[in-house]
Amino acid sequence: MASITIRNLDDSIKERLRVRAAAHGRSMEEEARIILGDLVEYAPTPVAAKTPIQRGSLSERRILLIIGGGIAAYKCLDLIRRLRERGARVRPVLTKAAEEFVTPLAIGALAADKVFTELFSREDEHDVGHIRLSREADLIVVAPATADLMAKMANGLANDLASAVLMATDKRVLIAPAMNPKMWDHPATRRNRATLAKDGIHFVGPGTGEMAESGESGAGRMAEALEIVTAIETLLDRRPKPLAGKTIVMTSGPTHEPIDPVRYIANRSSGKQGHAIAAALARLGATVRLVSGPVAIPDPESVSVVHVESAREMRDAVEQFLPADAAVMVAAVADWRTANEAGEKIKKKPGETAPALQMVENPDILAGIGHSKLRPRLVVGFAAETQDLLNNARVKLDKKGADWIVANDVSHETGIMGGDRNAVRIVTRTGVEEWPNMSKDEVAERLAARIAAALQTVEV
Ligand SMILES: Cc1cc2nc3c(=O)[nH]c(=O)nc-3n(C[C@H](O)[C@H](O)[C@H](O)COP(=O)(O)O)c2cc1C
Repeated sequence: MASITIRNLDDSIKERLRVRAAAHGRSMEEEARIILGDLVEYAPTPVAAKTPIQRGSLSERRILLIIGGGIAAYKCLDLIRRLRERGARVRPVLTKAAEEFVTPLAIGALAADKVFTELFSREDEHDVGHIRLSREADLIVVAPATADLMAKMANGLANDLASAVLMATDKRVLIAPAMNPKMWDHPATRRNRATLAKDGIHFVGPGTGEMAESGESGAGRMAEALEIVTAIETLLDRRPKPLAGKTIVMTSGPTHEPIDPVRYIANRSSGKQGHAIAAALARLGATVRLVSGPVAIPDPESVSVVHVESAREMRDAVEQFLPADAAVMVAAVADWRTANEAGEKIKKKPGETAPALQMVENPDILAGIGHSKLRPRLVVGFAAETQDLLNNARVKLDKKGADWIVANDVSHETGIMGGDRNAVRIVTRTGVEEWPNMSKDEVAERLAARIAAALQTVEV
């Protein structure tokens, strides 16, 4: 049988293996064995479909699936099938409204379990009861999570079986919202989303696209069954979680600084790197609180996300998430905003000169955290520069009170801003590490492992 000698691996692979092994508290040989083991177990056979079913990935895991009354409830039939083929035990709860969209008969047949619908059922209360239902699960999944169910959850209502179970549980809860884009964007739903994120509820989706019932399109489409399965697998992953019990506050994306009700100043940040880091940290077990500027990509799996627009809103949201064990500030926050935001759209008047924008400085969120009384143990900032990268990063490290600055060259020709790849340098007090050009997901994995290793040591 062939053998692998760690010594003979490429330096960059060796380094990544070292960081990963340290993060998991294993030797490099042990880590390599586990990676190979996973590859062999999950690799598709030549005749297998493109996405092989990870049979047994949810073996004996108990999922309480709460189905809300939305048109996307039909997707739950497929979701249940996918969960069961991975070994999960699915116990369904239907809201009254859900019964208008899918039948308990079909759901029960696929789940091979009793379907629960009533709070005031003498038989069910005696047999199982809503308290036991909520506790005898490894994870509660709400799909589709209607605007109504989210409002109930955010406000602590418990007037039917689904909401009473959600109030009585001490288990983690994953929700897959699904609703009309106007409902998703409604100020009330926005408030509820923020509350749920703060309460530690995990989200998967929603995606953007055409609505099944109305022909309208926008954000609000329920995540597909396989996306929900992946989010569940991530949450129930039994592999070591070096960041379990750690809370990490993050920012990602650009900010929009209003000029008037219709115009704003923005930048080209896509949020891809920040969102990938948030997902990678969550996979290592961290509770990630992400404050995202306006982006066109979905929320990262298993991460609580608060959506904001301006730098001031971002600062306020970040402050609400302190204290935390680490802060990873990836957002491209506008340095300035307009001094006087116009209340009405600025009109072009014949003969008048173009209006001049007067700018004032925005709050410096990274420096605020770096010098805060509630400063996390590890503070990581990003420096997007187009010139004198390293010097600027070193200055930023000191000025902002950060432990590491992840510096990247965002000159137009690098294609980094908005692109899928990144080439970063990690500037610390002790030196500079140069990482090769790699995908933003790889940068995220590697940075997450480095953060995990740092948080396991006393000093960062
Ligand atoms: C045809 C139809 C489709 C609906 N689709 C949705 C939906 O996708 N998302 C949503 O939040 N509400 C939707 N509703 C409204 C909910 O069914 C309604 O708010 C209900 O009270 C939700 O109850 P529940 O949250 O207890 O399941 C829809 C209603 C109808 C009649």
